[in-house]
Amino acid sequence: MKCAQRNWSLLLFSCLGINLGLMGSAHAAPKLIEACEACHSTNMVSQVPSYPILHGQKQGYLEKQLEAFRDGTRENPMMAGLVQNLSDSDITELAQHYSQQTFVKEAKQASDRRGADVRARCVSCHGLSGNTVNTEWPNLLGQNHDYIFNQLNKFASGERKSVIMEQIANELTLEQRKQVALYYDQQGRTQ
Ligand code: HEC
Ligand code: HEC
Repeated sequence: MKCAQRNWSLLLFSCLGINLGLMGSAHAAPKLIEACEACHSTNMVSQVPSYPILHGQKQGYLEKQLEAFRDGTRENPMMAGLVQNLSDSDITELAQHYSQQTFVKEAKQASDRRGADVRARCVSCHGLSGNTVNTEWPNLLGQNHDYIFNQLNKFASGERKSVIMEQIANELTLEQRKQVALYYDQQGRTQ
């Protein structure tokens, strides 16, 4: 706990410029989460559409991604600075916290169903409803479309590494990536 507390202080100090003297002695996990909420908001509606929604995401997947940001195998300048001082137990606590949050999102009126056809290529792993059965694979249901689209492009270019997803993204045209991203975003969600 002490270590996590120190990490949090460093994190605030280096990333948000908040005076270390303001640090309380509360539990580390809620404090750590405050640093995340500026971008991974508690209010899904107003969240920046190119940032991912973490609420209700699979714990094993979140842990794997945080480790990847920390060791640099997944590159993102925003996330790298935030996770570099996190311990393994900080990562587990953060991943657990977000995986336990309920994610409620109203379904949007789907005006373009072409994405549903593209989705047929995704269901074997991401589930028929967009919720995976494997804890290390991400749910897509209700995720922001800008974020999904960007990630598909990053997989296609090899900027984001995944043997499976690099191949799948490359099999899709730019238009299909956009359509399937929109399709998942349009789906409602209650978990
Ligand atoms: C300054 C904004 C910002 C802050 C603060 C921030 N993030 Fe992020 N986060 C992002 C962005 C942007 C991405 C998408 C990166 C990409 O495009 O690969 C991301 C991606 C992620 C992902 C990957 C999600 C997925 O679906 O693959 C996880 C997990 C994550 N952040 C957790 C956290 C945690 C935990 C914290 C707090 C310690 C945090 N983030 C703080 C901006 C932020
Ligand atoms: C054979 C299994 C498999 C299939 C089929 C598959 N995926 Fe994936 N997908 C994965 C795995 C595994 C990951 C996690 C990759 C990693 O560890 O970074 C992933 C990650 C993703 C991500 C990143 C999510 C995030 O939160 O950052 C997106 C977006 C995605 N897949 C979209 C799709 C779409 C769209 C399709 C269908 C066109 C699809 N996937 C088909 C296995 C699959």
